Amino acid sequence: MTKKNIHDSEYVRDLFDRVANTYGYTNYLASFGFTERWRKQCISKLRGLSQYASGYDLMCGRGETWASLLSLHPTIVSLTGLDISPEMIKGSKAQADKINSQKFKFMEVDVFRNNIPSATADFVISSFGIKTFTVEQQEALAAEVYRILKPGGVFSFVEVSHPKDWVFSWLYMFYLKKVMPVIEKLFLGYSYGYGAIGTYVAEFVDCKHFYTYLQAQGLQAEYHKLFFGCASGVSGTKA
Ligand SMILES: C[S@@+](CC[C@H](N)C(=O)[O-])C[C@H]1O[C@@H](n2cnc3c(N)ncnc32)[C@H](O)[C@@H]1O
Repeated sequence: MTKKNIHDSEYVRDLFDRVANTYGYTNYLASFGFTERWRKQCISKLRGLSQYASGYDLMCGRGETWASLLSLHPTIVSLTGLDISPEMIKGSKAQADKINSQKFKFMEVDVFRNNIPSATADFVISSFGIKTFTVEQQEALAAEVYRILKPGGVFSFVEVSHPKDWVFSWLYMFYLKKVMPVIEKLFLGYSYGYGAIGTYVAEFVDCKHFYTYLQAQGLQAEYHKLFFGCASGVSGTKA
């Protein structure tokens, strides 16, 4: 039997289509609320955002960052959620209806095949959307961030990470790889795919590769280690 390429866009799309309905609460419960805290930290690092800004939430999922983002930056005029998964996009449209704002637009597309015009974004944000990417894909994404941003535009990314130099690193990875699938089975009856997160995180490690690729594009970037390295982020500016 041929081995599946877990980084293939279609494989990842199908994975998220399967988990879309339960993603919100499983994600919140299984992370003990940490994912919500890390999203807020990611948003807070979108420093120097201009007024009346328009921008993109890449790998937006079900619009998990949107309420907090618009509450911190109410003058944002346009926010486009981009995601490859039709089911996640469906969830993000429901989230937009809940927030009841005309500011949202949607792009159901592979981020590596997007048609966002160059130098049109005041900001790019993304939470937990890059762990499934290989280093080559991360390098391509860094080029896209550079291309999409206007000069002066800002960006912020956050991702679950492998806290290699933390004393409880093994416990955290044991939790991601072994306990999370059990929680998923208990709550959902059978495996939808959350067990994959440990595999992805073990390979992804943290945002350091992505950070260096963003810098190599000429972006001013800052690396952030969150909660002993259980998550990491990178934020900055296109000068
Ligand atoms: C872990 S979810 C994160 C969702 C949300 N941003 C959050 O904060 O929870 C990762 C999302 O990335 C999307 N995704 C993965 N690969 C993608 C790609 N190549 N292009 C666009 N979206 C992608 C998935 O469909 C999924 O909705």
